[in-house]
This record gives sequence, C-alpha cells and structure tokens, in this order.
Amino acid sequence: MHLDYNEYKKLSREIIAEGVVLLENKNKSLPLAKDEKIAVLGRSSYDTITSGTGSGGLVNIPYVVSIRDALAERFAIAEELDSSYLEWRKDHPFDKGEGWAMTPFSQVEMPLEEEALTKASELASTAILTIGRTAGEDRDNEAVKGAYYLGEEEERLVQLARKYFPKLIVFINAGNIIDLSWTKTYEVDALLYVWQGGCETGNGIVDVLDGSVNPSGKLPDSIAYEVEDYPSHANFGDGKENIYVEDIYVGYRYFETMAKEKVLYPFAYGLSYSTFSLTCEETSADDEGFHFRVRVENTGECAGKTVAQLYVKAPGEDLAKPAQELKAFKKSSCLEASEAEVLTLYVPFVELASFEDRTDSEHYSSYIVEKGEYQFFIGEHIRDLEEIFNYEQEETEVVKTLKPRLLPSEDFERLRYVDGQEQMELYKGTDCEVSENYVAPANLVEEFANWSNEELIQIAHGLGMAPSGVTAGIAGAFGGVTDGLLERGIPRIACADGPSGIRMDNGQMAFSIANGSLLAATFNEELNERLFSMLALELRKNGIEVLLGPGMNIHRHPLNGRNFEYFSEDPLLTGKIAASQIRGLATYGAVACPKHFALNNQEFARTEANVVVSPRAAREIYLKGFEIAVKEGGLRALMTSYNPINGVYAASNKDLNIHILREEWAYEGIVMTDWWAKCNRKAGEEGSREERAAMIKAGNDLYMVESSCEEIPALAKTLEAIEEGYLLRDELIRNTKAIVDFAKDVSFIHHPLELEVLNEPKMAMQEQVEIDLGKMEEEKTWDLSEYHFEKGKIYVLHLERTLAGTYEMELEISTGDEQKSLEVSQLNIAVFVNNISSETINLVGKTKGTHTVALDLWQNPNNYISFVFSETGASINECKIRLVEKRSSR
Ligand code: BGC
Repeated sequence: MHLDYNEYKKLSREIIAEGVVLLENKNKSLPLAKDEKIAVLGRSSYDTITSGTGSGGLVNIPYVVSIRDALAERFAIAEELDSSYLEWRKDHPFDKGEGWAMTPFSQVEMPLEEEALTKASELASTAILTIGRTAGEDRDNEAVKGAYYLGEEEERLVQLARKYFPKLIVFINAGNIIDLSWTKTYEVDALLYVWQGGCETGNGIVDVLDGSVNPSGKLPDSIAYEVEDYPSHANFGDGKENIYVEDIYVGYRYFETMAKEKVLYPFAYGLSYSTFSLTCEETSADDEGFHFRVRVENTGECAGKTVAQLYVKAPGEDLAKPAQELKAFKKSSCLEASEAEVLTLYVPFVELASFEDRTDSEHYSSYIVEKGEYQFFIGEHIRDLEEIFNYEQEETEVVKTLKPRLLPSEDFERLRYVDGQEQMELYKGTDCEVSENYVAPANLVEEFANWSNEELIQIAHGLGMAPSGVTAGIAGAFGGVTDGLLERGIPRIACADGPSGIRMDNGQMAFSIANGSLLAATFNEELNERLFSMLALELRKNGIEVLLGPGMNIHRHPLNGRNFEYFSEDPLLTGKIAASQIRGLATYGAVACPKHFALNNQEFARTEANVVVSPRAAREIYLKGFEIAVKEGGLRALMTSYNPINGVYAASNKDLNIHILREEWAYEGIVMTDWWAKCNRKAGEEGSREERAAMIKAGNDLYMVESSCEEIPALAKTLEAIEEGYLLRDELIRNTKAIVDFAKDVSFIHHPLELEVLNEPKMAMQEQVEIDLGKMEEEKTWDLSEYHFEKGKIYVLHLERTLAGTYEMELEISTGDEQKSLEVSQLNIAVFVNNISSETINLVGKTKGTHTVALDLWQNPNNYISFVFSETGASINECKIRLVEKRSSR
C-alpha cells in the first residue's frame, strides 16, 4: 500500500473546489477569462486562513497555498498593489495571539490609499477581495465589528473596491457564517463562501474562479440577514443555562416554516456556471419506504455537477412540523452539457416519523407517522422545490415506543407553529426514571475474575496529553495504560486530534484538509469517503489508530466557535457526511471518534452551561446525526461532550450513553470523555472531575486523561463508590470488556499494514532561536524571563557540561492571565534532547509551576535542548539544571 502525498493534495484540492459555494454571479462575472487582470485585495488573500483554532486547528502544516499565490500563478495581477501588500506584511505579520484560544477573529488590514487603487484600476478591472475570519475552541465568534460584522478598515476597503473596480468578487474565508448583508449594500458582482480548506485552500478556490471546476457546493446552513434572526439567538451564550426554546425549529426548519423573509441565502443554495433540470421519472413505494428515480440533466453550456435534494412536508395538525425536512440527497456525477443521468433516492418509511414527547399524549415517547398527507419534493435547494409525490397515511402509526429518556426536570416554553401561527407551548418537566443496574453475564464475570478492582478502574482511564509509549505529542492513549495491563497483552492505542488533519504537538508535520463546513457543503459522500481513506493512511504512517473527529454537533447558532469543525444545521447532512468519513477511515483500519456527544453548541462556559432541551428536539435534531453515524457508518468510538444535558453531564449520562446509544441504536463501540471532563451523579448536581464512578456507571468507558494511570488521584474515591454499593464491579467489567476488545481489534501493532510513503511535503524550515547556556558543573540556574517564546520557532539551548552523567532540568513555567477562565485550555511544550523527542509538557488553564525533565548528558560534553511551543503564550522564567548521578561517558 502507498500513501502518495501528490494524490492526497489532488484529492484535497478537488474537495475544496467542490465545497466552495457560489452565492452571487451577476452578469456571469465568473468564471474569469484566462487573460483577465486582477487586483488582489484584503490581507486574507495573502494570509489565507486554513482552519479555525483550538485542538482542531493545531495541525503543523507543511505549507499553505494562499489565495494570492494561486491567483498569481494563473492570472496577471496588479503588481504595484501586490508588492505593497507583500512589503507591508513584513512589519505586520499574522497575529496568532498569545495563548490558547487567543487568535483574533480578524487580522489588521493594510490601509489603502485611493492613489494606489486608482493605479491598480488602470491595469485591472476586476478586484478580488478576501474577508478572513477565524474562531474556534473556547472562543465563540462575537456579534461585533471585525468578527461577525465587517471591521471598519474592511468596510472602507469594500467601499473603495466598489468605487474603483467595475467587477468586485468577494471571498468569505471563514469557518462560521458571518454577516453578509453588506454584500447587498455594495452590490458585489460575485460572492463565494470559500470556507477554510487547509494546505491546498488557494488552489481549490482558484479552480472555481477560472472555471477549471464548475462550482457545485451548497450551503450547509441558512444565512439570515441579521444575527438576531436566528431562532436560538436569545438563548445562546449564557454561562449557566441555555433553554432550547426554538425546539425543533433550528436553521431552515425555523426560517422556511415561519420566517422566510429573514433569509438572505436559503439552506442548500449554491449556484453553478451551468443549469440543470431535475425530473422524477419513477416513484415506487413498498412496506419499507419510498424509492425515486430522478433524472438530472445538464441544460447549460458547460460540464458540472449538482445535488438532487429530496424534502418532505409532513402533516402537522397535532404534532407541529417544520415546513420541509431534508430526507435524502445525492450528488450527480460531472455531466457534460446536455448529458443526463438517473439518480436513485430513497426515503425509509420510518423517516416520516416525528417524536411525540408530550406526556399527555396517547403516543407519549413514541415515534409516530401521523395520519394525513405527506408531500415529497425535489430540487436543487430548499426554495427550488417541485412536488413529485404525495402519500396519504390513513391512520396514525406508531413506529416505535421508547422509554422516556433525557427528560428535562424543569418546565419551559417552547416554540411551535400551528395553523399558520407561532405559539409557545409549555413543556412540562418530569423526573427521569431510575434505570435498573447492569448485571454482567457469568462468562464475562469469569473472563475478568483475576482482575482486581484497581485494575478495572485503571483501564477506564486514558493517558495524556502527549503520553509516552505512542507517537509523540498527541492527545492521548488508552488500553494498555499501565505496565500490568501491557503485561496482560492489552495494546496501547493512540489517539490524536482531528478532525481535519493530525495534530502532533511535537512539531511534527501533518497534512491539513478542509474543515467540516466545507466538507458538508460538497454534499458529496463518496468524495468524503475517499479523502478520509487517505487520512487513514496518514494515521497509519504516524502509528495513530484513532482520529478524534469528525465534529458532529449541529450548527444551532452561527457564533458557535467550533462550527468550523462541525457540518451543518441539518442532522441528515451531518450524519451522512460523518458516516462517509467514518467508513473512509475504516478502509485502512483507522477509527473515527466523532465528537461531541451531544449538544456542545457553544464554547463559552462549555464545561458548565446546562442545556435544557426537549426529548423531541434532542432526538430529531441533535442526536440524529450520531444515530446515522452508528447505523450507517459502523461507528466504533465516540467522545462525549463537556456540557450537562437537562442537568446531567454528558459523560455521566446513562440515558445518553447506555439507553439511547447502546440499547436503542445497538452501538457496540467504546465511549470516551472529552479531556478532563466533569461528571455528576444526578441532575442538577455540581460537576466534578473526580467523579469517575458516575462516568463508569453511565457506560462512558474511558476518562480522558490522566498523566499517569499507575497512580490515579481519583482512584480512592472510585473504590469508595464500589464499597458504598453505588458503582458495581459488573459495570466495571462491562466497560473493560469493551476497551479490551476494541484495543486488540484495532491495534496497528496487532494489525500492521505495510506502507510506502511518496512525495511527502517537507516542513518549511522553522526559525531557530539559539540560547547559549555556557558551561556548567554540578548545578546552575539561568534566568530565561527575557525570552518571548513563540509558536513556529524552535528554541535551542546549548549547554556544555563538564561532568558526564544523568541530569535533571527544572523549568519554572507560567501561562498568562488570559488563560484564567479557560479551565481546559491546552498549551504544550515539546522538549527534545539532542534532537530526540524527550517529553511534552502539558499546561492546562492558567498555571505557574515547576516541570522536571530528565536529561541524559553522559555521552557528549556539548548538548542541545530544544523547545517547540504548540501556541504562543507560555513563559519559561527560570531553568535549573543539576547533576543527579555521575556516569562514565565510555
Ligand atoms: C476538545 C476535544 C479534543 C480534546 C483533545 C478538548 O479540549 O474539546 O475536541 O479532542 O481536547 O485535544
């Protein structure tokens, strides 16, 4: 088997081009003619944003093709203007921010003089302006200028561009949806949501611009005129509790039902350089569902693809329904002009059902297909629908009745739309039923009879960050986490972030692919599967079995910082794209670990803010994608979220992890917490990071992460929970069995694959900062407080020792005040001794303390100790080295 980075680049570029969404194309402004002259504007054309920030954005990428570079390769660009940008950037480098989650939402723009634009406009009649944004983990976007809105300098730039150039093309280089109302005010000629695409970003985008690729990306989210228009707006961003008042009316389910006028660009919208016609040639229904043969014809003049989308309007007299719901979609192949193909789309009967969660209903806690008329539509976006089929359900049919789960204990009002009217309906809070204790079958008890309770608890923990015994600098490891467990033959399994490239905080290079929103915008399952099979090979290359991704939470609100990692406002699209990525990774035996199960819909106070949600909205909107991932992706690993759901933390939520995930969906894989998650025993109880018993009891197999599993600080408390009778040995055994089977089954050591790596890109040489420590004998201390340690540089300490031996280095390290409120922030410093990776110092939250690193300095008198920082923001104030044991150098 081979991993050819040239193929990886090609596929990655193809998927970027396919995810770009063309929103405006007045007077056929695009594609650009080959001889068109262009003025390149906006610093993000130069410093193109490849990703959002946080764990999903920390891939050490070997190179970035910026939009400007890709343009310059194919078009004549206004040179003087270009040179002034290149020159200005030398004194205004990209600001990465200091610390975790500190990268600014936008970058400073170069102030432009009218004179420069006059000159450029004499050479070029077309301007390309890129507006770049980033947001991320622990950092929700904000509804302020320079973030959700244009910054002042950006707005001036738009005004000037509009004034000087007859053709103004705008790229939105962002992971989140941002305000676009200004694009109407300034009447931009072409508008493209280009997202963030990783290494190949510029190439993929310019492929669409010059017509090498005909755009076929479709919006995974509705874009509203105002941020306040989103139905979750009033209940987003609270640090204590957010009531999901909008209920099932998320995204288009709200807009299309009751607020059509608020939509600037509707769900699944996206233009092509061609036109298509969709006709349903044949419909058939059987007991299982409805089959459609849809003929797609390219009626335009150039080759291209489109997406056949199938929506259903369900009767909503009793149980209120959204105006339409996406029930199936398929991407066409690239059709030549006048060429046609027939796509088959299928809607299972059970997918017509809605979940009844009103306690006074005779169908309480059931999925029901209500009686009445079901209309089926096809189209290329949600506002382009043609009815193709009509189905009459004679009597209300109960598809399945389930035990009530995930119940909110408090009363709250939720939105519904009945008889053409918005109404608020009272949801009556109830207490959850306490479910029965698990009893392990005799053969399982027997299998683990010679394991002590301590061992069963140890294996319920993962090691991290940057654990030893696996690839350096990754997020975690689990399975054989102690010597005893390794002796039992349980392999240590490696896991790394994800989702759009491999994060290795020791500075090791990995390829970076496009982010979630772009990948969803392709509506192309096959392409996603292929891309992730390449990523599987890269995981193989690095000895990492599990990728911590994809991110699968619903885009409930456009300001959620991690929307870039997630796919869409729609659960079907989310589930289908995730399932294809999971299958892609499995091609070569790698495992996806989707996150964050469930309802992690804001970053602010993510380990605290309680989500109050109805069982119906939870099931139909927020869990649905995960359900598809289990049933169609063959999911084997899953990460719970930090937040409580109706008072119970996700990681210790038995309804979520046992009753719904395993009992209802028949999931057979493992479940892990997010890093240093909190748990509680019952609704409303304060969360604790020591509460491992509740986690184990709730079927969350692994607590991620501890720095050592030989001595787990929370062990005593967990053993006490067994003594008290709260935690059962059977429950520990159940989880252990899942972990052991998983580890043995996926271990790359047990299941190797021979891999040849071709055309691997080299990391651009990193700037090296040399620090001369001079000579030392037994002990010496250096003050390093004058150094400003930055991401992207390597700090090399040169030390000449006179006595051969083993030494110890004590580093006094602190992180800045900004990290105070971010309890689970991650700043990692990888330490190398004489070019050999030694260890990674992991700093969580705001910290100040001493970290000790062992140094073997017996071989050579001259030694080089290097530091690589995953983010800027940590200071090494003092470094003390002392001899521990003399040792002969021969
Ligand atoms: C994030 C996870 C990530 C983990 C390990 C957490 O802060 O929420 O998505 O996988 O860190 O880096």
